[in-house]
Amino acid sequence: MKRTVIYPGSFDPVTLGHLQVIRRAARMFDKVIVAVLINSSKTPTFTVSERMELLRDATADLENVEISGFEGLLAEYARERNVTAIVKGLRAVSDFEYEFQMAIANKKLNPELETIFITADSDLMYLSSSMVREIGSMGGDISNFVPACLHDRIVRKLRK
Ligand code: COA
Repeated sequence: MKRTVIYPGSFDPVTLGHLQVIRRAARMFDKVIVAVLINSSKTPTFTVSERMELLRDATADLENVEISGFEGLLAEYARERNVTAIVKGLRAVSDFEYEFQMAIANKKLNPELETIFITADSDLMYLSSSMVREIGSMGGDISNFVPACLHDRIVRKLRK
């Protein structure tokens, strides 16, 4: 049986931390569906299609990675795609409580669904998309935070 996992997130924009999770998941699973979803508590900077395009370019060398977008509940999307595993990145203890709540809520909504956590490397533990947005929009150097092939595009958008 083919093992597929969904990696959900806002990816506003994708960072080297996300890419590390995608690469690790792509080694463990036959297929990784990176799903750009809506977090209703956030107002995005990049449009869904911009975020998907950035993710597509950052993962172009990974044959078993698919980039997709979905507007509803993650639990529903997993059911629709016939997938029973989600992967999430854990950066620090502070992520844990929120991720734990989401994992339980998703399982209540879709009892088939298991959440698997991949821990970030210590050198990327501090990273988040909002940090990239803030530093980039103020003219700071984000080259250590985002994939090199996306750097100029992300900077251009953030400085607009
Ligand atoms: N490296 C770098 N940054 C990381 C990271 C990693 N390994 N893992 C997480 N982050 C960052 C994210 O970029 C994000 O940064 P930001 O707050 O600056 O945007 C932050 O850590 C939180 O990440 P995450 O917990 O994955 O939140 P998210 O907003 O990216 O994604 C969704 C949350 C979209 C998956 C969630 O809201 C969802 O499932 N929405 C669909 C609707 C739904 O089903 N809701 C009910 C959920 S129970």
